[in-house]
Order: sequence, then C-alpha cells, then structure tokens
Amino acid sequence: MKRIIVGVTGASGMPLAVTLLRALAWAQDVETHVIVSDAARQVLELESGMQVEELVEMADVSYAPQEFGAPPASGSWQHAGMVICPCSMATLAAVAHGLGSNLLHRAADVTLKERRPLVLVPRETPLSRVHLRNMLAAEEAGAVIMPPTPGFYAKPATIDDLLNHITGRILDHLGVAHSLVKRWEGL
Ligand SMILES: Cc1cc2nc3c(=O)[nH]c(=O)nc-3n(C[C@H](O)[C@H](O)[C@H](O)COP(=O)(O)O)c2cc1C
Repeated sequence: MKRIIVGVTGASGMPLAVTLLRALAWAQDVETHVIVSDAARQVLELESGMQVEELVEMADVSYAPQEFGAPPASGSWQHAGMVICPCSMATLAAVAHGLGSNLLHRAADVTLKERRPLVLVPRETPLSRVHLRNMLAAEEAGAVIMPPTPGFYAKPATIDDLLNHITGRILDHLGVAHSLVKRWEGL
C-alpha cells in the first residue's frame, strides 16, 4: 500500500484538489492522508460549494493542521510522497524556509529531509520576486514546482479535461498509475 499525503491550502484551485483526491481514491493500492489548512476551508466553500468534511471523506485518513503529534510529523513514518495542491504563497514561503508552524508545513519539511517526493502546485499571478525566490529555494531543497498550467496540445475541450491533465501530471511525479493524461506520442 502506497501512502500519499495531500496538503490543501487556501489558494485558488479547489476543483483541482477535488479532482486529485478523487483520482487518488480510485487509484489501486494507494492510501491517502489529507491535511486541509484553515484558510483552505473558506476557499473550498467558495469555489467548490463543498464543506471540508465532504473533501476529506475522499481520503483514507485526515488530520487537522494543529495535530503536531500525527504520523506525517515524523520521518520514521514512511510514505511515498506528498503534494500540496493548491499551494498558497504563504505555504510556499513556509516550505521554502522550513517553518513547521502547522502539520502541513511540518509534513512538507519532513518529506524534504527524508528525500521523498514533494510536489508543490503553487497558484498566484503575477508572481513577485519573493514568490519566485521561494519557489527556487523550495526546488533547491528538493521539491518539484508544478504550477497548474495545462498543455493545450492535448486539445482540452472542457474544464474537466484541464483538471485531469494537471492531476495526471501530478500523479506521474508521485509514481501513481493513472489514465488521466493523453500521452504525447510525437507529431
Ligand atoms: C477566495 C480566496 C482566494 C485566495 N487565492 C489565493 C491564491 O490564489 N494564492 C495565494 O497564495 N493566496 C490566496 N489566498 C490567500 C490565502 O488564503 C492566505 O494567504 C492564507 O493565509 C493562506 O494560508 P494557508 O497557506 O495556511 O492555507 C486566497 C484567499 C481567499 C479568501
């Protein structure tokens, strides 16, 4: 059983978090552990009309951001990777500078120190120099920076097509098998 940690923070992009958690629920041999930040609850309701309880139901285990004693806070608890989707600029800064001020930040810090995959899906536009520096610092520490920018070569026709494409690329980096992406096979 492959354990994947999903952090959801208060950036725009909640339909992507929903698509990702649904895909992980369908994936074979994956156990999903989710941490939703306090700010994400508000954005989730606004963008997806969902309460946090409905979102976390898609995962196998959920933790509150204040649960510092939860398994993802320790490197001795093994998992296959973590994704923060969407990742706010505030959480990006916390990850880039190793702040362990909530369980989500701590789990990301532990993931980096244990050299496990950490995928950040940052959302903001335009990006300030502070944001760009923080992305570079996080990437230098080992994170994969994956802004939710879809490829149009697959000719997406619907918002679901866009969400599935980005979700599939995230799952690629977490080593989770899926059939969400139309793979490029050359011209
Ligand atoms: C509707 C709404 C949309 C937001 N969108 C973004 C966003 O796209 N990117 C971002 O960095 N912050 C965004 N924010 C601000 C964050 O929620 C805020 O900085 C918060 O402190 C992030 O905390 P967290 O990282 O712990 O979730 C948004 C806030 C609201 C209410």
